[in-house]
Amino acid sequence: MKGFHGGASSAESGESSNTSPWRSFSLIRLYFRERWGRLVAGLGALVVVDLLQLFIPRVIKEVVDDLQEGRATESGLLHYVAVIVLLALLIGVLRFVWRVLLLGFSRILERDLRNRFFDHLLQLDRAFFQRKTTGEIMALATNDLSSVQLATGMGVVAAADAVFMGIAAFAFMAWIDPLLTLVAISPMPILAFLTRILSSRLHQRFSKVQEQFSHITEFVRSTFSTIRIVQAYNQEKPQAERFDALGRTYVRDNLRVAAIYGTLFPISGFIGNVGLLFALALGGRMTIQGAITTGDLVAFINYLYLMTWPMMALGWVADLFQRGITSLNRINTLLEEKSMLADSTGEAASPILAGNIQVRDLTFTYPRQDRPTLEHIDLQIPAGTFLGVVGRTGAGKTTLCHLLARLHPAADGTILMDGMDVNALTLADVRGALAYVPQDVILFSETIAFNIAMGKAEASMEEIERVARAAAIHEEILQMKDGYQTRIGERGVKLSGGQRQRLAIARALLLDRPIIIIDDGLSAVDMETEQAILRSIARYLRGRTAIVVSHRVAPLADAQSLVVMDRGRIVARGTHAELFRSSSYYRTIYEQQTRNGP
Ligand SMILES: Nc1ncnc2c1ncn2[C@@H]1O[C@H](COP(=O)(O)OP(=O)(O)O)[C@@H](O)[C@H]1O
Ligand SMILES: [Mg+2]
Repeated sequence: MKGFHGGASSAESGESSNTSPWRSFSLIRLYFRERWGRLVAGLGALVVVDLLQLFIPRVIKEVVDDLQEGRATESGLLHYVAVIVLLALLIGVLRFVWRVLLLGFSRILERDLRNRFFDHLLQLDRAFFQRKTTGEIMALATNDLSSVQLATGMGVVAAADAVFMGIAAFAFMAWIDPLLTLVAISPMPILAFLTRILSSRLHQRFSKVQEQFSHITEFVRSTFSTIRIVQAYNQEKPQAERFDALGRTYVRDNLRVAAIYGTLFPISGFIGNVGLLFALALGGRMTIQGAITTGDLVAFINYLYLMTWPMMALGWVADLFQRGITSLNRINTLLEEKSMLADSTGEAASPILAGNIQVRDLTFTYPRQDRPTLEHIDLQIPAGTFLGVVGRTGAGKTTLCHLLARLHPAADGTILMDGMDVNALTLADVRGALAYVPQDVILFSETIAFNIAMGKAEASMEEIERVARAAAIHEEILQMKDGYQTRIGERGVKLSGGQRQRLAIARALLLDRPIIIIDDGLSAVDMETEQAILRSIARYLRGRTAIVVSHRVAPLADAQSLVVMDRGRIVARGTHAELFRSSSYYRTIYEQQTRNGP
């Protein structure tokens, strides 16, 4: 089925069509089993509503026949009215009951499925998020979940209703006269077929409307978040014109939806009326001949009318179920997605206390790359020592940090911490032992204090200030309007690159972990400041295993050992003095950087 989920998703639904379309049903079977009582009660109420509805034409028949045959009395009529009012009341109450029970069921199912979906996403590795765009994930989280909800809610209701009401109305009609019934309902299959086609087309067009609406929203968002550029380049008018064009498309898409509604209802009305015509032509003659009573004919026409909805529902339900299954398959495919960083099972957690790191012949290739990004890396980092990593951009420094922080999977036996293969430890054990400052700092649109205490929410203000001082950002924070309570990000102050990096370092220092990895964490400050900050945090780094990456050499001169990386390999190692003597490569970078500045 063509959806609007974009290229990758429709390719996926192609994949899933290889296997049984019901393979994903096991995902939701459990909910049906667990809540069968609720379902049975809801369906019971639904069936009773149908029965009561079917009973009303019977009452009308009695009224008409009484009137026809002069038996009617005023109190008799009042009696019938009372019966109909009572039936209507009961129908109202029971409709409420089944709506709550059955639609509530589908909402619960949707919520649980959404939670599983979200929990699962949180576990997936970086490779997954590089492969899938946010838009695709959002489409799954919104469109696909809601079509599963629709299928298990309104879909189940309409299917049960259509089947029961259809059969019952048919039976009541056949009881009045079988031949008349066959003739009168002969146009009905066309109605079911037509609804089936139109509702799937309606869905496609409606998806287009939603998609276009999200384009408009995204356009507005991106325009205002880049408003300075838009204005600086005098793009107000062209931007307004593009906005207008998006709006026009949106109107056109909406009109296409309206066109389907505009076709569906008149045509279904027409088909219903053709049935009515047949019923009147044949039934009228039969009434005149006395084969059926006038009341029978009136009741018959009422049943015919009651049957229109089940027929339309059949077509609609077929479309709902088909979409529900397709979406469920897509969700299932994502839930089956395994992180390559899955936790090893069995072993009890054994915390990394000392922070001794060994890297043995580590070679790493990114997914879908033919050349390895890291080759034969060997490192011995004794607990409590400070290793500096230098190298040009693209040398593989960040990749090495990611592997150490277990953001990408490494082969068994290549990375050991405290003598244990990290792959045999849980992710939480490894990540809990290290504080990692990524190259691209990520801050939340929250207060400064919140951002520093992000990994340790219970930290006191004193602790927060102490690490901020160590990261040489305390004074600058105090100068801000609300000090540590200043909001940053979209609705607060904007920080400079250097300030952001120092906040990230403060955040890592607060964690107080045996291992700290700083990946080019001070690239946005000048070299002297970088040196000063590294000196200031040296007190914190003492006793911890520190891996500090920089594309500049001078700030790392204090490190106990240094490695120089180039094109995925370690090309030289030693102390600053040793390297300065032995590695012409190192000496060249050092001299270039210290002479010309960063
Ligand atoms: N997710 C990725 N997928 C494929 N290649 C990548 C990925 N991340 C980095 N690379 C490549 O790996 C090489 C090393 O990058 P990186 O580790 O960021 O180097 P550095 O931090 O030393 O600048 C670069 O050639 C880069 O293009
Ligand atoms: Mg890098």
